[in-house]
Amino acid sequence: GVAAKIAPSMLSSDFANLASEAQRMLDCGADWLHMDIMDGHFVPNLTIGAPVIESLRKHTKAYLDCHLMVTNPLDYVEPLGKAGASGFTFHVEVSRDNWGELVQRIKSKGMRPGVSLKPGTPIEEVYPLLARLMLSNRNMGNVVMYEVYVVHNLQVEGENPVEMVLVMTVEPGFGGQKFMPETMDKVRALRKKYPSLDIEVDGGLGPSTIDMAASAGANCIVAGSSVFGAPDSAQVISLLRKSVEE
Ligand code: DX5
Ligand code: ZN
Repeated sequence: GVAAKIAPSMLSSDFANLASEAQRMLDCGADWLHMDIMDGHFVPNLTIGAPVIESLRKHTKAYLDCHLMVTNPLDYVEPLGKAGASGFTFHVEVSRDNWGELVQRIKSKGMRPGVSLKPGTPIEEVYPLLARLMLSNRNMGNVVMYEVYVVHNLQVEGENPVEMVLVMTVEPGFGGQKFMPETMDKVRALRKKYPSLDIEVDGGLGPSTIDMAASAGANCIVAGSSVFGAPDSAQVISLLRKSVEE
């Protein structure tokens, strides 16, 4: 399978001690640090922005997996790039018309582009951002089906425009919500189509829900309250990793 990335959501940390909380998670075995950026408009909550990413970057070399729950992600590319963000995951719901330019700008700032969808958004909406120009044959009995995927934006033709899909497993906005199992159909469909894609899940993940996500094909696991709320965060992180790697 694809390598597991366990990403504690720093939204559940003590923001007043962000640097030490980040280091504690890395010491507990975290691969990435998930940073939830909200604008109080795309979601009814307000968190952090580029200045906080910039401050944290001075204390750690870790991969900062930024999840942009904002209405205008384009406005955040330059500041977050300068601040030292590693991943830039925007929402497809607000980027339907300009994802080509957005992806291009994210890459030009040295960040890794990702796209996220809310629980109610169909998986088909991200396919145009993933497909490279290719021909694949599927053998169905004695009939060979040919599928052609075409990159819609010429600027990004020839490469995989987006390298990660974040399938939200709760309504974005707050930590500590209940995992929505019905979102797993999207993970399964995506994994079937893209065997080596990074597929991230976010919301309500912990020891009791990880097996559903892992067996559906998710390999990047965001976990806030289950990791920060546990007496032994290292144990939870290693349990999440084991489920994915099994
Ligand atoms: C929710 C955020 C999540 C959140 C997850 O909008 O995107 O990253 O922090 O928290 P838990 O794991 O507690 O559901
Ligand atoms: Zn998130």
